[in-house]
Amino acid sequence: MAKPNRSKSRSRNKPETKSKKRPSHKKLRIALAGFGTVGRSVAKLLCQEANDSFELTHIFNRNVSRKKVDWVPSTVRWTESIDEVLSSDADIFVELVGGITPAGEWIRRALRAGKSVVTANKLLIAESGPELVELAGEMRKRLEFGASVAGGIPAIIGIREGLAGDRLYKIAGVLNGTCNYILTKMEATGASFETALEEAQELGFAEADPRDDVEGFDARAKLVILTQAGLRTRVRSEQIPCWPISSVEAVDFAYARELNCTIRQISLAKKETENGLTVHAFVRPALVPVSSLVAHVEGSKNLVMATGQYAGQMVFSGFGAGGDPTAVAVISDLYSIARSGDAPSGHLPAAVEVPQEVSGQFTAPYYLRFVVKDRPGIIAAVATVLARYGIGIDAVLQKPGFPRSALPFIITLETCTSAMLGCALQEINRLDFHVEPVLCMPILLD
Ligand SMILES: NC(=O)c1ccc[n+]([C@@H]2O[C@H](COP(=O)([O-])OP(=O)(O)OC[C@H]3O[C@@H](n4cnc5c(N)ncnc54)[C@H](OP(=O)(O)O)[C@@H]3O)[C@@H](O)[C@H]2O)c1
Repeated sequence: MAKPNRSKSRSRNKPETKSKKRPSHKKLRIALAGFGTVGRSVAKLLCQEANDSFELTHIFNRNVSRKKVDWVPSTVRWTESIDEVLSSDADIFVELVGGITPAGEWIRRALRAGKSVVTANKLLIAESGPELVELAGEMRKRLEFGASVAGGIPAIIGIREGLAGDRLYKIAGVLNGTCNYILTKMEATGASFETALEEAQELGFAEADPRDDVEGFDARAKLVILTQAGLRTRVRSEQIPCWPISSVEAVDFAYARELNCTIRQISLAKKETENGLTVHAFVRPALVPVSSLVAHVEGSKNLVMATGQYAGQMVFSGFGAGGDPTAVAVISDLYSIARSGDAPSGHLPAAVEVPQEVSGQFTAPYYLRFVVKDRPGIIAAVATVLARYGIGIDAVLQKPGFPRSALPFIITLETCTSAMLGCALQEINRLDFHVEPVLCMPILLD
């Protein structure tokens, strides 16, 4: 059989620098870009843990002199020149700078220069993963990003390789440690969102600018990567709606408890094939039963659940962020390259489907929390609108002890579509007794 002619793409992506042929017993040479939280931990594991496989050769960072530490061997070259790193004879470029630019361009250049790449960069992989994997394939190099989702938890490889024999149709979980820290703090202490966020920032669990975490964008990037790896389906970040956790208040935990539930930021993607391929996906705060596995995810931990047609639900959990856990995932990727050389990456499937529709619509029972200026007729007014949209009320709860000028109460709804509920809420929010907009969360029972 004739071999496929690869000469066209090979010449287009000719390596800038030919990597030298390395005798098999030699250590792989590692160039590290980014000496921040994760980069430092990776350097520590490479320098302080005995290993026969790797040699750290370069550390790149802007204004690098302020980064220098005495526990890195003197043989390591500290540099603020990316060109020096990319033209060096390092075998693997480890990108731990983050962000889409210039990190993406550096990774492309590293691959074209004949280096394999390991990265923890979820934003970049969510945006350009398939393109970068293809480039790595063309260059016959590896691109690994096991650290980009759920830090130290081997979720991508577990789903992609460990569950390759199943037909997965749902990925769900707690993918952002900052949000989980804040919500579990509110749950345990009755603190407000603002107080819990401040504490998370003081302890280093939240960034000074926490928007990416709180608004759900960080979790969404991870969901995109998991959807591709597990559901073998290509979705884009901007197709997945996100709701912030900042509208959850301490009183919601009190009401959730009355319903034997608690609140978590849930990322969920579900594949349906009935009328063409549709992916239902969202990142949002949701009520979950206190007895569920997600309710037991405490502090900055993560949990990933993959549900398949044959093996049922599988769960991966542990520390999803932080320097050391994330560094473990990076080093594991390095070992994978050391073991299998330049064989194609296992992190993304070769063939993925593009869904006809990506929808944030979701059918579930819902929780509505109101804060109102109290007066007679409020429940009747809300019930009238809901009835017009065919939405049934399951329960109404009102805790005592709140002022009539800002009275919180909740209504739980029977199972309904989020589209219908959205229309009803637009009308309900226009009624004149609200102190703040109605908070709406799905109640996820499975
Ligand atoms: N931290 C975690 O728990 C975690 C978990 C999973 C994945 N990740 C991913 O890992 C990557 C690194 O995260 P991190 O938490 O280690 O970030 P970080 O602490 O901010 O470290 C980034 C490092 O890169 C340097 N840097 C940034 N932009 C640069 C540029 N243009 N040129 C040269 N150096 C530059 C920074 O230098 P300065 O000191 O000057 O800013 C810093 O030392 C990100 O992709 C992140 O999403 C992180």
